[in-house]
Amino acid sequence: MKFHIPTRVFFGTGALSQASPYIANLGIKALIVTGRTSARKSGALDDVMQLLDSSGIKWHLHDRIGENPDLEMVISGKQDFLDHGCDFVIAIGGGSPIDAAKAISLAAANDLDLDHIYDTASFLYVFPLVAIPTTAGTGTEVTPYSVLTDARPQKKAGFGSDLAFPAIAVIDPNYTISQPDQVTLNTGIDALSHLLEGIYSIKRNPLLYPLIFEGIRLIIENLPLASTTPDDYHARESLAKASMYGGMTIAHTSTTLHHSIGYPLTSVHNVPHGLANGIVLKPMMDLFYPAVSAILDRLWIYLGINRRQFYDWIDGLDMKADLHLDEEFMAQRIPEVLASRNMANNPFEVTAAQIRVIYQSL
Ligand SMILES: [Fe+2]
Repeated sequence: MKFHIPTRVFFGTGALSQASPYIANLGIKALIVTGRTSARKSGALDDVMQLLDSSGIKWHLHDRIGENPDLEMVISGKQDFLDHGCDFVIAIGGGSPIDAAKAISLAAANDLDLDHIYDTASFLYVFPLVAIPTTAGTGTEVTPYSVLTDARPQKKAGFGSDLAFPAIAVIDPNYTISQPDQVTLNTGIDALSHLLEGIYSIKRNPLLYPLIFEGIRLIIENLPLASTTPDDYHARESLAKASMYGGMTIAHTSTTLHHSIGYPLTSVHNVPHGLANGIVLKPMMDLFYPAVSAILDRLWIYLGINRRQFYDWIDGLDMKADLHLDEEFMAQRIPEVLASRNMANNPFEVTAAQIRVIYQSL
């Protein structure tokens, strides 16, 4: 058993000012990588610019990362980084800007072109990254993963490299308060999937069980409240913690079919990542339960509920996606799911027929 997270984490109200001496040591000019809205709306972007200005650190803003970032976005970020003489990256936002920033930093440090962004063997160097999440879900601020879309076959896939761990994570729950209710819900379910996949994965690790059990408890007790009462700080803090625990979990166990099966729903049908995980959550648990029942039964005892009650809780969330997956989708996407890297982590070998049954149920 081993536990390894090389990221220096600052958590809670005021996390950014606690992190400031460490951030100031990272370099002389930062590329600030964001999407179009949440970095500004959350207040995090203003705070970061103020901090850099007062520390005498130069910066350039790259605010063009869209949902499900593709490889072209990474290359354009790399160009901006190099053109402006940056030497570290600060990413603010949901999973998309942070994952793109990991790839931008690696692409700039190793001069990667479009065809080598997934090629972890070419990763020798990295520029330091500060990750500041504005959602509570992906946990990417403490993982070595970057999920990107390759627009050429329109496929969502990722890479993992120890070099991609952020140097610093600044997790201030206040930055998540401005998220719309539906985003809060979807991202919270993403975190729940990560925690459950820490149980499903064959790389499961008892050192992580306290994080997994507590993370799931925090989500069950706080997600419905946070998605209807956005400014409830305690609920936001609980979800930010659960998200970080989920990230620390999959940093060790990787994800499984639960994530692989959701990727085509996102790349083909634009279902948000967390929602894609949410609509398959019950069938996934039904499929994997026999293989991991001993641990899940311990989880129910910890939570004081049973599997039926857990399913009722899921049903009580407003998670719907009106999908009618046709034969063309099945023919193209089931082989893609079977070929994905995460499939090596399932607790048993999953068949095409089992995937088809889950897709047909949506
Ligand atoms: Fe995820």
